[in-house]
This record gives sequence, C-alpha cells and structure tokens, in this order.
Amino acid sequence: MTKLLNGNQLAKEIRKEISKEIEKKILSKNKRIPHLGIILTGTNNSSITYVNSKIKECKNIGIQSTLVKLPIDSTEEKLLEEIKKMNTNPLIDGFIVQLPLEKHIDQDQIILSINPKKDVDGFHPENFGKMALDMKTFFPATALGILTLLERSKIKISGKHTVVIGRSRIVGKPISILMSRKSYPGNSTVTLTHSNTLNIEYYTKQADIIIVAVGITGFLKGNMIKNGAIIIDVGINKNGKNILGDVDFRSVYGKASYLTPVPGGVGPMTRVMLLKNTLMAALTNRKHPTL
Ligand code: GUN
Repeated sequence: MTKLLNGNQLAKEIRKEISKEIEKKILSKNKRIPHLGIILTGTNNSSITYVNSKIKECKNIGIQSTLVKLPIDSTEEKLLEEIKKMNTNPLIDGFIVQLPLEKHIDQDQIILSINPKKDVDGFHPENFGKMALDMKTFFPATALGILTLLERSKIKISGKHTVVIGRSRIVGKPISILMSRKSYPGNSTVTLTHSNTLNIEYYTKQADIIIVAVGITGFLKGNMIKNGAIIIDVGINKNGKNILGDVDFRSVYGKASYLTPVPGGVGPMTRVMLLKNTLMAALTNRKHPTL
C-alpha cells in the first residue's frame, strides 16, 4: 500500500509554528515584522505564478513583502543596482532574485552579488559551501522542504540508499548534499544521477528513496523502482490547466511505500520554507549593526 505524503497539511502546521515564533520573538517585543524582498525580471509565466504565490504566502502569515519588477530587456547593470539596494536597505531582512534569468544576464554574477546574510534562497556560494560543510546557514527551500517532509513523517533516512535524479543548483545538488550530511535528517548513502547517467534504472531499482527533479512529466515509472521505495516527486510540469509531476503516478502508486502527490506534496513545503528562512534572516541579521 502506498501512503501519500500530504505537503499541504504539513505546510499548514509549519505556517502556524512560524506565526507563533513571529509573535513570540518579534511582535511581542515591539519589533517590526520580517520583510522579504523579491526581484522578478521578465515575463516568464511560471516565474510570475511562483512569485505571486510567494507574496500570498507572506501576506497570509504576516510577513511583509516588497516586489521589484524589472522589464524583460533590463540590463545586468540595472539588476545589480536593484540588488545593491536590497543588500543595503536595513528594512529588508532577506531577498530573492527569481530564476531563471534572461539569457543576456550572467546568473552567476547575480547570485554572487547578493549579500549572503540576506540570501534566503541559500544559493550564494558562501551559503552553499557552509551547507556542504554542515555549518548553520540558509538551506535552499525545496531541499529543506523535502527534508522536513521526511522528518515530520518520521521516515527513517539514516543508512538508506537515496538516488537523486537531476543535478540542478535549486534542487538536485543541495538535496544530495543534505541527505548525505552527518546529521538528522541525513546519514543517507546518496547517488546523484543526471542526464548523462547511463542505464538510470540500474540505480533507481536499488534505491530506498528516490528524489526526482528532472522536469519531465512521468519520467519515473513503476518498473524503475523496487517494492516499498519512498518516492519524492519535485516535478511541476504544466499540461494545459493541470500540473503533473516527474513521477508516473499510475504505475508507481501501489508499488511505492510513500509518495508525494503533485500538486500538494513538495510544492507547499517549498513555499513555506522560504518563510522560515526569512524569519531566520530577521532573527539573525538584526543582531548585526552593519545590516
Ligand atoms: N525558480 C524556481 N525555483 C526557485 C527558487 O527556489 N528560488 C528562486 N530564486 N528562483 C526559483
């Protein structure tokens, strides 16, 4: 039997916990509410949808948000200018630059220009490096959402073999690092597979846990997994009005022990983790007089 991991329900519980923490550590001390900045460039429909849902999440929980929208033909200099403003604005606790960026903009330069202390995406190399070295820092929201979903569902990870499919900096790389770290949740043996992996089934058939983030509808099929595997579907693929995952639900359901549905699995956990990182930024940064 397959148990569906309900990300909507868990995200709701975590929202309540964050609200309580804001009340206790910020509002009751008459401090200003946490403030998230978002920079959105261009007209990518998915990016607009994601950003709107991030703003809505902030509003629902009582976190302030400021959106800076830049036209599609904005130069890299203009984007760097807006980042500088966010970096130095003491009223912004943390901010994100929504990805992907237009082709004429150097994404690495943009990420490098974000103040690591305000990098609530956890994408800056300083934060990424800290994460890889088991130091306290912001963890990328999707990876943190997956870890939390596994942890709160009391799924044992230690000693298990995790196969990650996809090596993006947003999901695949960070989750493979976090699943293997010497900590809880962690201590898993991780195999990171990707588009150049030969005979991917060889790996997936051995996996106790599979985390699939490739952006291909129905990529992971039932005949690629072993009985009782735990399947985490990170895919958000549009099909008309429907959203479909990277897992072929029909063939995997019944064979897996746990499965995250799409929608309603990893997605809501990702959104709520950005709020958690924003609160963390507000609580840590305000101790530093330079911010
Ligand atoms: N694009 C898709 N996911 C993300 C994310 O988590 N952060 C940013 N900044 N852009 C994204």
